Amino acid sequence: MDSLPRHIGVIMDGNGRWAKLRGLKRIEGHRRGAERAKDIIRVSLDIGIEVLTLYAFSIENWQRPDDEVSTLMELLEVYLSTELIDLIQEGIRFRVIGNKEKLPEQIQHIINRAEELTKDNNKLTLVLALSYSGRDEILRAIRRLLSSGVRPEEISESTFENHLDTAGLPPVDLIIRTSGEMRISNFLLWQGAYAELYFTETLWPDFTKDEFLLAIQDYQRRERRFGTVLST
Ligand code: FPP
Repeated sequence: MDSLPRHIGVIMDGNGRWAKLRGLKRIEGHRRGAERAKDIIRVSLDIGIEVLTLYAFSIENWQRPDDEVSTLMELLEVYLSTELIDLIQEGIRFRVIGNKEKLPEQIQHIINRAEELTKDNNKLTLVLALSYSGRDEILRAIRRLLSSGVRPEEISESTFENHLDTAGLPPVDLIIRTSGEMRISNFLLWQGAYAELYFTETLWPDFTKDEFLLAIQDYQRRERRFGTVLST
């Protein structure tokens, strides 16, 4: 099996530890992390990945100290405003998953604009998970389903998926997590049911394009059975 994963999810972990090791403030780790995110977006576009989902801010992250949260929000705002033209020109479709209502209004506005302006692009779909948790997404999907007046017998996997934030996107094939932690941490819980997992000790600000390509090669060597047996 050597086909490319259609959808890659990345848990960009270790920014704080990277900064601490260098005697820097945590936000410097996030700044450097944002640069790495740009590299990985570029290489995903170049090699023809369909969907790249980056876990940029979890619902749990709201509990971090106020100054870290506000500086992260500023970083995201600057990133989205300055990169928007490039996203449009490069043919990237931009999308956010997560509880957008919790985000500052200015960021919601920028997100809505970026989603609208890139909606017809057909190269890479770049998904940012912001104010996101898989359980929260599932609960919001259930609420949406119930308020649509659906009858219990009408609920199938596909009707349910159509109410998730990721509606219309393929399931995630490969989840990469940096920094040595071996957890999923509430990321794409439904969509990752059969995802291959790749863990690396590398801290996110040190994660290179080459290591990203290595993770993809590792994925290509896996045997995906989806619970069945392979015919011989
Ligand atoms: C986890 O590291 C990382 C985050 C909570 C934020 C991730 C955000 C970015 C990489 C920047 C924004 C991205 C884009 C696309 C502009 P941590 O702080 O939990 O690290 P630690 O576990 O070492 O403390």
